[in-house]
Amino acid sequence: MSSTKTTQQPSIHPYIPMHYQHFAVDIFFEEQAEIYPLWSGEGNLSYFILNPQTKEVVLIDPDLEILGAYLLTLDQNKLRLVAVIDTHTHAEHATAAPTLSQLLQVPYIMHQQAPSRFVTERIKDGDERTLGGMTFQFLHTPGHTVDMTSIRLGKRLFTGDSLFIKSCGRADLPGGDAGQQYRSIHQLAQFPDDYTIHPGHDYNNHISSPLSAVSQHNHRLQISSQEAFVAFMTAHYAQEEKPDNLEYYVAFNAQ
Ligand SMILES: [Fe+2]
Repeated sequence: MSSTKTTQQPSIHPYIPMHYQHFAVDIFFEEQAEIYPLWSGEGNLSYFILNPQTKEVVLIDPDLEILGAYLLTLDQNKLRLVAVIDTHTHAEHATAAPTLSQLLQVPYIMHQQAPSRFVTERIKDGDERTLGGMTFQFLHTPGHTVDMTSIRLGKRLFTGDSLFIKSCGRADLPGGDAGQQYRSIHQLAQFPDDYTIHPGHDYNNHISSPLSAVSQHNHRLQISSQEAFVAFMTAHYAQEEKPDNLEYYVAFNAQ
């Protein structure tokens, strides 16, 4: 894995403060929401989701490494954070969600199987929440971890570490299960072609894609049986190094 954020062109837009412009990689519009993906670490993506009418913000998968970017963006633009959500217990970076939740007194939302005692609102498959006037639906998509939950906002799917654009999250880390991952990525691929996916990581500068292109070009979705998929994942990740500081991050995020 190599860092990809340095290859991105800076994206200038009115909200992200100057010092953090290079973490902002794009902007997407969905009904009442503006979506700002922020890139940190070695290919981590967090999502700053703003309702420009109400100035309310929901953060998905905030990374502690860029806590200042979230706080300064909120403060300089007089925006109000209304909730933080982690798609799963991360193993590759430290979450900023408990810090933001406690500092700004906002709910910290995760799946009911998440181990963190800082979670204030535990959701299950199919639950919906209206946050800052934006309606989010939660879809339990285990496989990468037991608590992995994808999030739907309109026709956008925040897929965390289940379905990536040209790949999928690994299933050999704590709580992983390749058979479940196979079922989860196919469940996500069932959404209509005009849906867009926004993954929790990408290591090749692919930060979003229409689902139609993902279904066509993601070779892991082409593997024809669960058995073959499990065999592929097992062989592939036997060669792959574990993420740096894996034990530390899992312990940090689960505390
Ligand atoms: Fe992960």
